[in-house]
Amino acid sequence: MWDKTLRSKSIKYQQTSGSPLIVDRRQQLKEWLHQCRAGTLELFESIDETTFCVQAHSEFSPVGWHLGHIGYTESLWLLERPTGIKPEYSAYRRLFVADGLPKSERVKLPPIEEIKSYLEAIRNKVLLRLETIDLEKEERLWRWLLQHESQHTETIAFIMQLGRWHDRAPVGASWQNLTTQNNFTVHPAPNSSLIQTNTLTSEMVSIESGSFIQGNDSIDALDNERTAHQVKLETYSIDRYPVTCGQYRTFIETGGYENSIWWSEAGWRWVQSEQVTKPLYWSDDLRWENHPVCGVSWYEADAYARFVGKRLPSEAEWEKAAGGNNTYPWGGESPTEKHCNHNNAVSQTTPVNAYPAGQSVYGCYDMLGNVWEWTSTVFEGYEGFAGYPYPGYSQVYFDGEHWVLKGGSWATRPWALRSSFRNWYHPGVRQILAGFRCASDKE
Ligand code: AVJ
Ligand code: FE
Repeated sequence: MWDKTLRSKSIKYQQTSGSPLIVDRRQQLKEWLHQCRAGTLELFESIDETTFCVQAHSEFSPVGWHLGHIGYTESLWLLERPTGIKPEYSAYRRLFVADGLPKSERVKLPPIEEIKSYLEAIRNKVLLRLETIDLEKEERLWRWLLQHESQHTETIAFIMQLGRWHDRAPVGASWQNLTTQNNFTVHPAPNSSLIQTNTLTSEMVSIESGSFIQGNDSIDALDNERTAHQVKLETYSIDRYPVTCGQYRTFIETGGYENSIWWSEAGWRWVQSEQVTKPLYWSDDLRWENHPVCGVSWYEADAYARFVGKRLPSEAEWEKAAGGNNTYPWGGESPTEKHCNHNNAVSQTTPVNAYPAGQSVYGCYDMLGNVWEWTSTVFEGYEGFAGYPYPGYSQVYFDGEHWVLKGGSWATRPWALRSSFRNWYHPGVRQILAGFRCASDKE
């Protein structure tokens, strides 16, 4: 039977045996707040005022808005709500509240230095409060706040990439060498006489029928991950690696974007109205060949899966393949640079076999980090869902129009990286750092 203590205890605590002391947990939160913020500010180090304020795409706010919103949200949840004190910069509320101004009106921002001072003033008060708060009561909220900043930092990272992506070559050839050192046997995909895999394999792993625990009840779990529950799955197969650019190239070159037979009805309408002919972050440079395809919509992922005679995995299939009952595919150890490509450490994708230490117990690579992976599951609450910390955090997206993505990308921060984490977007969104892997009913 599944060991409940495994998940209810955050892994970062496992160095200490038994229940960690309150003073250590306070210290830990302080360190995390500091590390999280340092990573956020690093992205703004050499930014110019124009890039700070401009909308890279009409669907997304300027990166400078996200920075201000990070501070506003910290002030709201860690200062105003618990203490009832009025915020010092009340004029910023209208600008930085999530459901305030339309995105196109978020371009008139205070200078970057002013927003940085705003964040710092809030942080100083927050650190003071941390010394005296009742941790038993507030720890979940503080951990939620860290994950809130983490997610906006990722959005900032992909908006920045959006502005600078022009058919790029990968930075540093070392990743390419890493790939060619390994030996791969090429197993063709089922039903795919069409496909000639010239680079990495589309090898699958078979996962025998049985139960696993989906979701997460730990103190880090967001509302949409709760509560953990048992799910039984029939035998299925899932790709060992995310679909690579090399594999996806065949789809492009054999007219995949021009042939309706591969597409869902909505997907075919989408591809025609948007005039899409290749992934958003596509490059013809062959050095990307063993990197995961990145910048595809759900519609493109779904069409490619049909093209190779497979399908997208359900969220449950993905989560089970990521390691069943462990927090991470590799077990319980906190993610480091040896496990997976995350936290902007590389700031681009890496070949799908570059992190053997991050394999799941089923031998799946890259389950966390590198690219988000689309699933066939529509975003909904688990049984007994209760919105936290506000009803609209997840619940307003249970509208049948958002699909679940799993696993995190090269820009996902450690605080938002775990097998149970759920991301969600409209099926037509391709600016996020998303790829996919395929599944099949067959063994
Ligand atoms: C879960 C990443 C889609 O950025 O819109 C941030 C997370 N919610 N602030 C988003 C979120 C509130 C959300 N995503
Ligand atoms: Fe937010």
